[in-house]
Amino acid sequence: MTGLPRESVGDSTLSLLREGYEFVSRRCEKHQSDAFRTRLLGRDVICLRGPRAVALLYGTAGLKRCGAMPWTVLNLLQGPGSVGTLEGEAHRHRKSLFVSLMVEGDAADQLACAFEAAWAERLVFEATPNVLTTASDVLARVVTEWAGLGEGLAGDPRFRRDLFLMSDQAGRFGPGVVHALWRRSRAERRIHEVLDAGVDTGTPADFIVRFEEGGRPLPRDVAVREILNILRPVVAVGRHVAFAARILVRDPEWRDWLRTVSENEMTAFAEEVRRTSPFFPATTAITTERVDLDGLTLQPGQWVMADLWGTMQLERCFPAAEVFKPGRNLDWRRADECFVPQGGGDIATSHRCPGDRTSVALITAALRVLCRHVTWRAPEQDLRISMSRMPAKPANGVDLTDVAPER
Ligand code: HEM
Repeated sequence: MTGLPRESVGDSTLSLLREGYEFVSRRCEKHQSDAFRTRLLGRDVICLRGPRAVALLYGTAGLKRCGAMPWTVLNLLQGPGSVGTLEGEAHRHRKSLFVSLMVEGDAADQLACAFEAAWAERLVFEATPNVLTTASDVLARVVTEWAGLGEGLAGDPRFRRDLFLMSDQAGRFGPGVVHALWRRSRAERRIHEVLDAGVDTGTPADFIVRFEEGGRPLPRDVAVREILNILRPVVAVGRHVAFAARILVRDPEWRDWLRTVSENEMTAFAEEVRRTSPFFPATTAITTERVDLDGLTLQPGQWVMADLWGTMQLERCFPAAEVFKPGRNLDWRRADECFVPQGGGDIATSHRCPGDRTSVALITAALRVLCRHVTWRAPEQDLRISMSRMPAKPANGVDLTDVAPER
């Protein structure tokens, strides 16, 4: 297609790594356009942000995700043969597994309830805990138990750490990634062993093992990956918990506000945490046929990258976007064209994440802990967020001191 601004430098991969979350937005500002063309990893890529980007990646036929992610990201996150790599009817059928477990069932409430009790206890026990580390570790224990994988795995700190590092290292390069890939295959082996020994009937793990495609249960290695596709992202919500804690440390008035507000207002705060936290930066796809959308014409084989983070910072979608403001009426239930912390569009039919409901429930549970169940103080610490580290986090993960039960 013609008419799109083009980056003049040869290949922008190094700039993308250096600028991280801000790479697409900076160039959109420079070109005064929500789409531009550049080269990444030697390929011609169209980068987009805003409603058209969301409509393209989550509401348009003729794109595939398989092959559009760097190999290390695919292997650390979703895994070959998993739901994220499927398209069309095969995708819809596999996705129904996640929809019935994570969206229609009461997984979100069960996980949030277990996390709330266990994390409050852990914070008091440690007295000077780190939010990112403790929340991620407790989430790993809670979701492994909930899935029905037993105390052997849930109680193993090495397994829980492996789950954390898969997401933590997903956007990085170098030895840390190699180590995380090795940890991922170790975690897969451990789940295989548990499944071979047999899991209790009626548990989520049992549901996945029995899930049929073409009249047959899923191949065992695919079932293991889909189990990991629930465990790993639930643990990753610990990052959102750390971003939420950072807001409370920097602006204690929110802490007082959250002590008294309704459940709905607390949920609104959690949704604004998701809008303002640099977490999942962007999503990529390749066109499989000619695609026409709102003045864009893409030829088959075109790589596209939709900037999810940048879309949530757009002033025309979120007035005073840089201000943290829980009253924006954000709600994961709506297929919003700008509020896309975990992707957009229809959960059942697009590649949008099936974990929004769970994320919101877990962040809200964490807010109840931090504002109602325990008292704490925060020491002087580095709370800066490096926008070139993907996924980002508050520099030290947010340290707390003097944690005690609320009286
Ligand atoms: C809370 C539990 C979560 C579960 C069970 C979960 C699971 C999944 C699964 C299975 C997919 C693939 C969907 C598909 O291809 O149809 C997915 C996609 C996605 N997830 Fe999650 N996830 C969770 C939390 C998160 C979190 C905390 C984030 C980060 C903000 C996140 C961001 C995303 C994004 C952006 C996609 C779409 C990727 C794309 O469009 O290619 N998820 N998630």
